[in-house]
Amino acid sequence: MKILVIGSGAREHALCWRLAMSREVSQVICAPGNAGISTCAEVVSVAATEVHDLLKLAQERGIDLTVVGPEVALEAGIVDLFQANGMAIAGPSKAAALLESSKAFAKEVMVAAGVPTASYEVFTGQKELREYCRVKGAPLVLKADGLASGKGVFVVTDAKDFEPAFEQLFGPIRAERVVAEEFLDGVEVSCIFACNGTDLMPLAPAHDYKRLRDDDEGPNTGGMGSVCPSPRISGAELEWIQERCAAPILTEMAKRGTPFSGFLYAGLMVPQDVARRPDGIRVLEYNTRLGDPECQAILVRLASEPTELFQWIAGVRKDKPTLVWRKEVSTCVVVASDGYPEGVAKGDEIVGIDLAALVPDTIVFHASTSVNEKGRLVSNGGRTLSVVGLGDDVESSRRVAYKAVDLIQLRGRRVRRDIGS
Ligand code: AMP
Ligand code: GLY
Repeated sequence: MKILVIGSGAREHALCWRLAMSREVSQVICAPGNAGISTCAEVVSVAATEVHDLLKLAQERGIDLTVVGPEVALEAGIVDLFQANGMAIAGPSKAAALLESSKAFAKEVMVAAGVPTASYEVFTGQKELREYCRVKGAPLVLKADGLASGKGVFVVTDAKDFEPAFEQLFGPIRAERVVAEEFLDGVEVSCIFACNGTDLMPLAPAHDYKRLRDDDEGPNTGGMGSVCPSPRISGAELEWIQERCAAPILTEMAKRGTPFSGFLYAGLMVPQDVARRPDGIRVLEYNTRLGDPECQAILVRLASEPTELFQWIAGVRKDKPTLVWRKEVSTCVVVASDGYPEGVAKGDEIVGIDLAALVPDTIVFHASTSVNEKGRLVSNGGRTLSVVGLGDDVESSRRVAYKAVDLIQLRGRRVRRDIGS
């Protein structure tokens, strides 16, 4: 089977790496890929949003199955285009991907489906939003409606921070609509469900670390690390989440004539006392794809045949596969460039990856990397690498991951030291 993977991050490196190991797979092509992906896939330089060029590539190269990583490709309608041309593809249609690309739409579907979520209001006018915030006061959460790479959400815990949030929302972000929602307290968990339009199954649960600095300080990022399986969630809670927060969304989307197939990622807030009140869990958001860096920690534990999973999602395999997970725990530590997540440095040399790769039970996935004119590996902005360690427990997996991380040099790099602790 020939597989095309769309995307260029560490998530897509993990996808290519895992698929390339399959006996069912003869070739993996990745577009647009990155410097690390070329070790396990053929990298073709077509952007994830150039959906017509991607279709041409898939047709010319006789691709049997396409796997989509990033939301921008989904929003550009890649799944609709491929399916209209008879090509098997694992991911949601543009209409179903609205669950991620519009926060207001996601909220509306959640309410219609009876999914527990924070109460909210949607605003189109600045004046009305300002008045609402003045009356309600902090804490409140303000979210730009639309894809903003994790940078459109403002958790305002002090009223003096409303103004800077408005400045961002109506300045550089140019939000046309803003969702203002109730602030929820607790710990965050991501549960990702593989869906085929009518049925679903959970992947091993993971949690990521969204803030830039240790102890959850600093600005929100795309994610600075992850752990799988998440010790924050029990089997019973995962079942509750599937029943209350994922299955009703599938039913609602099917009812609307836009069935959801692909990965439904529920970002959840779990109250500290969840053991006493499991019904206190709330959905913060949906993503319509695998999480990054959750995917890296999840996929290294996938012991069963990966193509079965993607074929089932794509609707070309009817039997529901049984997912088998390695018993080890995985910890993923992100190495980000100087300045991340604001102005990010590019072109800094990355040294020591070969040494890091020698640390047993670790694997280094590339994100924003490239090779410069001197043939050296350099950072290309944002999150640069994901280093995953496997161990018998969280402690041993984080120990090996950090051992490898500490062998890598990158000027001004940003790394959290508390992933998995
Ligand atoms: P979202 O993109 O909606 O997941 O929001 C990004 C981050 O903002 C989440 O991962 C949370 O850390 C935080 N957040 C979002 N909504 C809320 C909420 N209602 N209460 C508290 N924190 C939130
Ligand atoms: N790690 C969060 C995300 O992928 O959106």
